[in-house]
Amino acid sequence: MDTIIRNGLVSGPTGPESYDILIVGGKIKAVGTDLDPEGREVIDARGCLVVPGGVDVHTHFDLQAGTHRAADDFLTGTVAAACGGTTTIVDHMAFGPKGCSLRHQEEAYHGLADKKAVIDYGFHGVLQHVDDKVLRDLQEMAMDGIPSFKAYMTYDFRLSDKDILRVMETVKKAGGVLAVHAEEHDKIENLRKTFVEEGKTEAIYHAMSRPNQTESEAVGRLIRLSERAGWPNLYLVHISARESLEEVRRARGKGAMNIFVETCTQYLMLTEDRYSLKDGESLKYVMSPPLRKQEDIDALWKGIADGEVQVVGTDHCPFFFEEKLMFGSGDFTKCPNGGPGAEERMRLLFSEGVMKQRISLQRFIEVTSLNPARIMGLYPEKGTLEPGADADICIINPERSGTFSAETLHGAAGYTLYEGLEYTGEVELVMQRGKVIVKDGVFLGQRGDGRYLKRRVPSV
Ligand code: URP
Ligand code: ZN
Ligand code: ZN
Repeated sequence: MDTIIRNGLVSGPTGPESYDILIVGGKIKAVGTDLDPEGREVIDARGCLVVPGGVDVHTHFDLQAGTHRAADDFLTGTVAAACGGTTTIVDHMAFGPKGCSLRHQEEAYHGLADKKAVIDYGFHGVLQHVDDKVLRDLQEMAMDGIPSFKAYMTYDFRLSDKDILRVMETVKKAGGVLAVHAEEHDKIENLRKTFVEEGKTEAIYHAMSRPNQTESEAVGRLIRLSERAGWPNLYLVHISARESLEEVRRARGKGAMNIFVETCTQYLMLTEDRYSLKDGESLKYVMSPPLRKQEDIDALWKGIADGEVQVVGTDHCPFFFEEKLMFGSGDFTKCPNGGPGAEERMRLLFSEGVMKQRISLQRFIEVTSLNPARIMGLYPEKGTLEPGADADICIINPERSGTFSAETLHGAAGYTLYEGLEYTGEVELVMQRGKVIVKDGVFLGQRGDGRYLKRRVPSV
């Protein structure tokens, strides 16, 4: 049956305006006033904001990192994301066996996701070494549904500058997007080694071994490589340091408008004070890059408001607390890196951003769905409520408030980085391709109902 969402507040050129949305065959058919409800299922959204379902292009479901495996797989992770108003994810595949082809992980990830994901999903290709075959595969994959690729400047499979440059040149040719985890590996390793030798093994030294400059210098280096490669589409993942934004500003000043900045909810909300929590609680916040200072948080919010930051993702990558404690208690360098966030993202951004008037509703939509969809080749099916788009919809009631608690969230790790934090604006209903998958916090979707998304080369 066709559905009509009536009287919801939709973002318009001059602010939210009341509209009806007609959904036919899982697609948005029309957005207008006084659409005829006769013979259609009616959802009354009066007083609520109706926004595109969230698009989170930075998750790590089922990640195998060395001997550690992320707590959420594609079932629990996508259920959590859905309950928080997200209807599409693009997951960063994990590294495969040493020397494996670019295609190897793609196949493996279909095995992990296809019968489990409850929302629509895609994968970023992961680069762990570079040779002619990898570069040929990259070009082929870019034309075959995977136009974005991820490179690391730190960790075991980091790429050299020479290899990053080769990848950039190929990505430029293919028209894809290169996503990079930018941190100065050698500087970080030296600091880590020194701290451990000095017996400084508590969680705060995780942050101190990765100071702001280890991120911003890597961003600067990357931008110089990018210039040499003729400015391919460059996507900076999980930017946390205010100095990194200055690097990007300088590059954009030279006309490089296809550098995209992603930050993540934790870098907008939490400071490094968390590393002083007792009883091992600090280890929940061990992630890379680490949490920073209030000045960085302020700069990132301003960056969103000004349009300098295009995307807010989550880097959702939680490990069980017991595992963090077991490995990280005596030595922060052994603690598995990462935390949860996919379920909290939309409400956090809405409450802390829109309700606290740091950002407009339109900006909220841009960073949570429209921009990630555009940059990652999912627009116009995703990220918008325009006619023709998939009816992926999130209805938020700004009159309702709540408190984040592991008790009511759905992730497998069993904790949230925001325990006890109050928010204003509740996700009341989530729809994927016209089907209600979440209502009043209850998941109504089906395992395996998420569709694999063959993405296109973005036109950004
Ligand atoms: O600490 C983090 N961020 N873990 C996930 C992997 C990554 O670097 O994005
Ligand atoms: Zn990363
Ligand atoms: Zn990540």
